[in-house]
This record gives sequence, C-alpha cells and structure tokens, in this order.
Amino acid sequence: MSFKPWSLIPAKLAHDLAPIGVNTLSLLMPDEPPHWKPLEWRGLKFPNRLGLAGGVDKTGKCIKAWPKLGAGFMELGTVTPLPQGPNPGTIIMRNMQGKALWNKMGFPNEGVQALKKNIKNAGSLSIPLFVNIGKNRNTSNEEAEKDYIQCLQEIYDDCDGIVVNISSPNTKGLRELQTRDYLTSFISRILESRPGVSQSKLKPVLIKLSPDSSDEEFSEMLDITLESGVDGWVLTNTTTHRVNGLSFPSEGGMSGAPLKELSFEKLKFAANYIGEKKGDRLIISVGGIMDENDIRMRLANGADLVEIYSALVIEGPQFFRNMGKKLKNWH
Ligand SMILES: Cc1cc2nc3c(=O)[nH]c(=O)nc-3n(C[C@H](O)[C@H](O)[C@H](O)COP(=O)(O)O)c2cc1C
Repeated sequence: MSFKPWSLIPAKLAHDLAPIGVNTLSLLMPDEPPHWKPLEWRGLKFPNRLGLAGGVDKTGKCIKAWPKLGAGFMELGTVTPLPQGPNPGTIIMRNMQGKALWNKMGFPNEGVQALKKNIKNAGSLSIPLFVNIGKNRNTSNEEAEKDYIQCLQEIYDDCDGIVVNISSPNTKGLRELQTRDYLTSFISRILESRPGVSQSKLKPVLIKLSPDSSDEEFSEMLDITLESGVDGWVLTNTTTHRVNGLSFPSEGGMSGAPLKELSFEKLKFAANYIGEKKGDRLIISVGGIMDENDIRMRLANGADLVEIYSALVIEGPQFFRNMGKKLKNWH
C-alpha cells in the first residue's frame, strides 16, 4: 500500500482540506486527460469512462482540476437553491482497511448561484459536466419539485446535463420521492421544465436511484422513469445497509467496497429489466468501484460510464490517472 498522508488526519479535516490538495496536485499534471475507451454520446465527448461522482465537489471548487487529474467527466453538486450547512454532529467517517466510508452530510453547499459562478469562472472544459440537483432540507416533499426546477433552470445553460438526486439517505424523507405517488408527476414536471425550443435540443436529465429498494420497488421506478422519458440513470447512491466489522452509525449512508455487490446487482438488474427499451439512454454505475477490474465489470454488464467517490478518499486523487495507466490500451 502506498503512503497516504491524508489517512493520518481525521476524516472531516481531510474532507475540508481536499480541495486544496486536489487543486495543487492538478497543477503538476499535464493538460490532456487520459484517453481510453472514449465515448461520444449525444454530441458529448467523454475522453474516458471514469467520472467524478456527485457530492465530491458540491459547489465546483476544483472544476479545472478534475480533467487534469484524469476524470472523463464530472458530476458537480448536489446543489440546492439556497446555501445550507451540514447535518448536526459527526458527518463523515472512514475505514481505510475496509475501504469504506460513512456519511450523513445532507447536501452542505453554497447554493446554485455560487456553483453557477464557479462554472462560469472556469471557462471552457475538456470533459462533459453534469450538475446533480436536490432540495433544501427545509423544503417539504410536497414543495420539492419547485426546488429541483429552480436549480435546473438556473444551471441549465452552464452544464451538459442534469442528475436529479432523489436517493440520498441524509435528507429526511427524500427517498419517498422515489415512490409512485410522487415520482410520476415529479419527474415529468422536471423534464418539462427544461428551457428549450425543440425536443431534439434538450439537454439530458438523468435520475440517481438508491440501492436499497426491493426488486419490485426498483422495477417500478425504472418503469416510471422510462415512461416519463428520462435520458438515463445513475445507479446508485449510498446504502443504509451495514456489514459486520465496520462500526458505522445506523443512520446515514455507507459507500466504498461494502457497497460494491449491491450497486453491481442494481446495475445488472436495471440493464436486464430495461433491455431494448434503453435505446440510446445512458447508464452510469457508481458504488464500490475500487480498481480497474470493477470498471471493466461494470462496463461489461450494462454501464456506459462509471463514477467514483470513495476510491478518491481511500486511494487518493491520483486514482483517475492510475486507472488511465492500467486501461490505456482499452479502445
Ligand atoms: C461523503 C459523501 C458525500 C456524498 N454526497 C453526495 C451528494 O451530495 N449527492 C449525491 O448524489 N451523492 C452523494 N454521495 C454518494 C456518491 O455520489 C456515490 O453515489 C456513493 O458514494 C457510492 O459510490 P462510491 O462507493 O464510489 O463512494 C456522497 C457520498 C459520500 C461518501
């Protein structure tokens, strides 16, 4: 195992210092992100299939750094209409040996206007940029759609696509938005809120789902989102399940290696269930991807792209380029 200085400081401090480390490290890297198994999707050019997951860079503090570090695309956010702080108490824990993280952050971010400003300041980018949107914690589920639509409309011109996050376990009641009662009209209204003159010019809207639903619930979500016309799925968010040997609190979400199997099962289930109806929709797999074999397995089983959060914390920000080196001959 290589030396990981950030593992010697508390998880929350490492989290708070990460943007400085990421931005500094990126200055030492050449400009071009590594190319391996590139993808062109609806006019967007992905130099490789490995991207930055939602939550890592919520307000876009390292926008120029991610392509230089080797990301093939980035998902910024989750962003909410208004700035908000984190949930009270401990919000992040880490288990380096178990390659696992636990968090109950609850979308701390500086608000959609701050993200918009940071994206504008960053200027042109060499990789696609998605923005992951959510609701403020004080907004009820009945009013939630307004928050999502506000974020979408304010950021729409500044990104290549939107990810609708209704699967974080850390905003009370958020996952209820995944149930039929809410989801059907909620997702349709969000899709309809896209400013655009013609259907063919609309930017993609993907939906991020939880790994904790039963097969029945999950197929219902897939049916509803397919019928409503979403452009793809991000599978999956963190899990509320726990594994033996990791002393994480019962609330909050777990990610990293212990989420691998569950997230992979959801990907295979979705790819199989959607089948030919997928058309040119996009599936992004995320959850427990810790090495190049995980990347290969996800792409071989229905994912078009993959994303990481925990691997960046456990293995460090060189992870993108390390994977690039291992996969550079994969075309
Ligand atoms: C500390 C932390 C914060 C997160 N914040 C968000 C978030 O704001 N929005 C989101 O959609 N997912 C968030 N996630 C979930 C990740 O995007 C990802 O779905 C999950 O961690 C599984 O991937 P991994 O095993 O590679 O970490 C967060 C995860 C962690 C560990």
